[in-house]
Parts: sequence; structure tokens; C-alpha cells
Amino acid sequence: MEDWVALGYLLSAALFIFGLKKLGHPRTAPFGNQLGALGMLVAVLTTIFSMQLAGDAEWVLIGAGIALGSLIGYIMAVRVQMTGMPELVALFNGFGGAASALVALSEIQKYIDGGTVPAGLELTVTMVAAGLSALVGWMTLTGSLLAMYKLKGGVSVFGKWIKTPTWGPSWLNPVKVLLVISVAVLIYLSIDDPTNTTYLWSIIGISCLLGIVLVLPIGGADMPVVVSLLNSLSGIAAAFTGFIIGNSALIIAGSLVGASGLILTFIMCKAMNRTLADVLFKSFGGSGEKESLTRTKVGSDADEVAMMIDGAQKVIIVPGYGMAVSQCQHQVKEFADLISEKFDTEVKYAIHPVAGRMPGHMNVLLAEANVPYEQLIEMDEINSEFPECDVAIVIGANDTTNPAARSGEGPLAGMPIIDADAARTVVIIKRSLSVGYAGVDNDLFYMDKTMMLFGDGKAMMTGLNNAIKEI
Ligand code: TAP
Repeated sequence: MEDWVALGYLLSAALFIFGLKKLGHPRTAPFGNQLGALGMLVAVLTTIFSMQLAGDAEWVLIGAGIALGSLIGYIMAVRVQMTGMPELVALFNGFGGAASALVALSEIQKYIDGGTVPAGLELTVTMVAAGLSALVGWMTLTGSLLAMYKLKGGVSVFGKWIKTPTWGPSWLNPVKVLLVISVAVLIYLSIDDPTNTTYLWSIIGISCLLGIVLVLPIGGADMPVVVSLLNSLSGIAAAFTGFIIGNSALIIAGSLVGASGLILTFIMCKAMNRTLADVLFKSFGGSGEKESLTRTKVGSDADEVAMMIDGAQKVIIVPGYGMAVSQCQHQVKEFADLISEKFDTEVKYAIHPVAGRMPGHMNVLLAEANVPYEQLIEMDEINSEFPECDVAIVIGANDTTNPAARSGEGPLAGMPIIDADAARTVVIIKRSLSVGYAGVDNDLFYMDKTMMLFGDGKAMMTGLNNAIKEI
């Protein structure tokens, strides 16, 4: 019977690995997601089976947990808007970290109550793993909650909207290091005196504080790095806990999440032209305040833009967060089809790695609208094509096209951008001149070659398509 448990965990690990592989491409990603979910189902059923074998399956508790968890998960998944996904992911990261830390805590409590060390481990190993699980798990919970509110733009308290601050004076860096050292000392002390719960509660308290001081100074355009790092940490916490309870599926799943999250973190760092240490200790986020706007620009209309596009040989579409908000990816695809059929225009899409609010956000939306994958060109590759591009159509993108990033100052400093300003003409579709996520005014809007189409992305794209059809 024990062999069936090992086989069940092996099957779930294989499903996780194949699922992860499929997530590497937008077209195969939905199937990858299903494989991962199936792997988790197999892991849960195997765990219940092994509990039943050991004679300690508490069916009422298990049933209540599954029913409650499924209900909450279902409601959240059904209600979430596409634009709310990043916050939901941040929240799930936090819950994952906390769940792992709670399991580790319960194992230590079992030792305190009954004197038996879980999974036949040495007491020292158990205490170190439990301490690390608590450090990473609780830090992930508070950090993720703060990240969620930063992505949301603030938190509503008694009907009043309070903005989540971005605050990180330089003296906070030694404090962060000091907090990590104190947790290490407390873990060391807990090895000699494992039944003294003061150490454990202190580790939990300091870890919660650490999550807040690590995420508080990070804001603006650097949030993608934080979200992927927290995702990785939630996996690492799970792996530590898997080690304590001797569950191989948890160790494998946790390590996969930890490793893939870390790879994503470094991809995001590269996209932002920063090192991880820069993001964690240099506070690029600025004050979190949005720049006030003093300049004005007269808007164009759909007919004027349609006439200008008639005759364009090459058009590059630059999508951003506003396309996700207005859900206009289908109108964007229709636009591309129309101009390539009617005017024989070559159309490509310029994809910035942090456009939108989650990794691969633009790829997912455009794949959903059946945009051929070959037309989606990464920033590094497409930037050299802008000087020979007749029209760059920027749809709801702002920070990722902001030339201020080249200046070396402010929250966007050093971030590589899509060189839309190098195109012969630029058309920008957004509702106003307002700033993007990092809060920085964008010179691109005010250039002589730029035409602003003010309005919601979907309405503007529909109007533009109609105007093109009438030519
Ligand atoms: P942003 O700089 O966020 O700008 C989006 C623009 O879309 C806004 O200026 C807004 O202008 C416009 N918009 C909003 N709703 C719209 C609608 N219904 N129709 C048309 N336009 C609309 O976008 P971006 O260029 O994609 O840059 C992403 C930013 O988010 C970066 O700073 C990035 O670092 C950050 N971030 C990214 C991630 C990931 S992982 N991708 C995660 C967290 C943060 P109006 O209000 O004037 O319409």
C-alpha cells in the first residue's frame, strides 16, 4: 500500500513538470494549467489515502476543508476581472506561504504536546526547517498582502480610500539585515529549547514585519519583480514544510514553484535593467506620488487617424495595460486584419516584458484574440524596426513607452522601453493625458508627430475600424 502512495506522489510530480513545460507557450498554457490542477488533485487524494492508511484521516475536517476551500476558490475565480488577476495571484501567494508556515507550526506544537519529532527527523533539523518555513511563509503573507494593495492602488477603510505608501529611507536597509539576523539567532536558540514557544512567536512576529519592510519601499514599475519574488518564496516555504512532514509531493511542488518563480524574478529584473539587490535595497519606486500634469494636447479623431493609416506600409501596435482594462484585443486584431487586407500594410505587435500587470499579460490577451504568435515581437527584437515604421499605434501603454526612462532619474530610470517615439507618426489611444503605473508624465504624448485619440480603448478601436471600413 505504501508503494501506491509513492506512486501517487510520483504521478502528481510528473503532471506538475509537464504542466510547467506547457505553460511556456500561450497556446499550450491552458492545457498546462489543467495538467497542474490535475497533479494537485492527485496529490491531495494520495495524501488523504495515506492518512487513511495511517488511521488518522479525520473525514469531517477533511470534508469541511475541501468544501470551504473549493467554495471560496470558485467564487474568487468566477468573480475576478481580468484586470484583477495580478492582485488575486498576489493574494494566493500570501495564502500559500501562510498555509505552509501554519502546517510547520502545527508539527512543532505536536512535538511540544507529545515529544515526538515529525517524519523521523533529527530535532535540530526539524527546528531549523520549521524556523525557515515560518520566516519565509509569514514574510510572504504580509509582503503579498501589501503587494496586493499596492497593485490595487490602495485600500478602502470605512469607505475612505487610503493609498498604500511607498516609503523606504536608506536606514531601512540595515534594519532589514538586522531582522534577518535576529530570526537566525532565534532559530539557533529554539534548537536548544524547542518547547519554549516565545522563540517561535518572535520568529513569526519578526518575519511578518520583514515582509512589510521589504515590500514597502518598492513601487512603481518595479512591482513585477516583487510579485514574482513573492511567488517564488511561497514555493520555498512549501518545500521547507514538505521536508518537516516528510511529504515528497510538497517538496517537489514547492521546489518547482520556488525555482520557476526565481527564474521569472530574474527575467523581470533583466526587463527592468536592475539587479535583484537593486530592487530590494535601492528603492526605485520613488515616493509613490503621481506627477501633476501641466501640459495640454489637442486630441484627434478616428477619421483623421484612418486617413493617415491609409498608405502606411508598416504599422507596429504597442499594447499596454489599457488594452487589458478595455478588453479591446479583438478590436485590435480586427484592425490589424483590416489594414493588412485593405491597404496591404505589414502589421507587427511590440511586446514589452512588463506591459500590463502580470508577466505575459499582453501575450495571453492577444493569443485569446487569435493574433498569430509570429506577429508578437519582443521589445529587444522590434526596437530596431521603429525608424522604418510609418505608424506606431500605442493602445493603453504608457510607462513602457515613456522616454523619461532613458533620463536616468525617477521611478522609471534605466528601464528599457519600446522605442515608439522613433516611428514616423505615433497614435496613442487612452482616455486622458494621465500618468501610468509609475506616476511619471510622458513626453511622448506631447511630441509634434503624436496624435492622441482620447477615449476608452474598445470604443476608440471600434470607431477606428469603422472609419477604415468607410475609406
Ligand atoms: P501603464 O503605464 O500602467 O499605463 C496604462 C495606461 O492605460 C494608463 O495611462 C491609462 O491612461 C490607460 N488606460 C486605462 N484604462 C484604459 C481604457 N479603458 N482605455 C484606454 N486606455 C486606458 O501601462 P504599461 O505601459 O502597460 O506599463 C505597465 C506598468 O505596470 C509598468 O510600470 C510596470 O512595471 C507595471 N507593473 C507591471 C506588472 C507586470 S508583471 N507586467 C506588474 C505590476 C506593475 P488613461 O487613464 O488616460 O486612460
